[in-house]
Amino acid sequence: MKESQRPDSESRLKPISRRALLQSASAVAVAGVMGNRSFAESSDATPAAQPDKSKAFPDKFLWGCATAGHQVEGNNTSSDLWLMEHLPESIFKEPSGDACDHYHLYPQDISMLADLGFNAYRFSLEWARIEPEEGFFSNAELEHYRRMLAACREHHLTTLLTYSHFSVPRWFAFKGGWQNPAAPDLYARFCEKATRRLGDLVDYASTFNEPDIPQLLNWINLPGTQGKSLIEALQGGLGKMRQQLNAPDFANFFIGDGKRIRDGVLAAHHKGKAAMKSARSDMPVGFNLAMSDDQPAPEDSHLAEKRADVYGPWLEVAKQCDYLGVQVYSRSIVGKKDLPPPKGAETTQVGWEFYPECVEHVVRYASKETGVPVIVTENGIATNDDTRRVEYFQRALAGLKRAIDDGVDVRGYVCWSLLDNFEWMSGFEPKFGIVAVDLATQKRTIKPSGAMLGNIATRNSL
Ligand code: BGC
Repeated sequence: MKESQRPDSESRLKPISRRALLQSASAVAVAGVMGNRSFAESSDATPAAQPDKSKAFPDKFLWGCATAGHQVEGNNTSSDLWLMEHLPESIFKEPSGDACDHYHLYPQDISMLADLGFNAYRFSLEWARIEPEEGFFSNAELEHYRRMLAACREHHLTTLLTYSHFSVPRWFAFKGGWQNPAAPDLYARFCEKATRRLGDLVDYASTFNEPDIPQLLNWINLPGTQGKSLIEALQGGLGKMRQQLNAPDFANFFIGDGKRIRDGVLAAHHKGKAAMKSARSDMPVGFNLAMSDDQPAPEDSHLAEKRADVYGPWLEVAKQCDYLGVQVYSRSIVGKKDLPPPKGAETTQVGWEFYPECVEHVVRYASKETGVPVIVTENGIATNDDTRRVEYFQRALAGLKRAIDDGVDVRGYVCWSLLDNFEWMSGFEPKFGIVAVDLATQKRTIKPSGAMLGNIATRNSL
């Protein structure tokens, strides 16, 4: 792993004014064109311009960016994933290392987000830091997250706090992860402790990020694996991994028996939510569901079966929640399993189809099925060409607006992601951020898409 250079403290910590941010982003913007219009022209109508009422979003609409602890903090050394990243035959392309050093640079990142014009920040706790050994809770780490939440308050940002975003403490994974019958109680104890210390600063809590992933993976074929699902491919390496770790029960969010993981996570959601409410009864609690805009293949479509298998149990659970976070990136044409994107379709760095209309379709579906308020808690694309991200956001938001105008109860839009970050097994290559990060210096550079989205947020209008 390359040793990263520390940025000089001045450039790391100096607050950046909104004006300076937008100027730097617009300077980049003039270099690019979208269709036959420049970025600046297409995206940067001055915030002072009179907003067109027909383009306005509801009052108090949340405009935010999301991150996840393991993907941005760096040095999450007590977690299961850190361990897996450093195995001799790791399934990770590269280790997370210092990531974006958000653990130390959060004051600058949070102020940048607010300066851009956003009014909400979604981030996650790292359970592995807070409870690095079973039963040992670190007050210092809880205080760290309290400072992050307080920084959000200082900048008038609504806080959306995810308690579990994939990674778990390594001791928890050694005991069988979510398959361990004790998992729901272990998780609930963590939720209770965290809420007692942090709950007064949390506006929206989430028990789990994408708890349906273990099921969703069964529907995704890996290119070149003759119908083998992604989960089957991951499981293939499980025996070897357990051997290398000398941990016969090792399992986590992605790895293990999908059905047992799902049942463990479901039980942990219920107990975790009850524990949160016992510490702060009026804290809104929900979770973030991974959803694709599923569309039937012309023949032999198993769409209804997929929906029942992947989302079904969670949409039921959502009915008892205060809100539902939906996370959507693209569409899937569902045959026997998800089919590859149509021939000739534009795809992004991670192979997903460029299909911004997925947001509109999914919020309509999620709202109809559950009847609870919906927040889009992740949406974006992985690309090195920011002009494509600008167009993606504009079309996604136009669709979201159509749904809202039709009466769908959507309370906010949170993009993925604030920063170019550690994209799990794919390492740092896919670029989802509206802000670029130089991994050697930790310098942040706002992309035109960030300035554009920030302006929409400021105007609360397209
Ligand atoms: C996850 C993020 C991830 C993003 C892009 C979502 O599934 O919550 O952690 O980086 O998608 O793959």
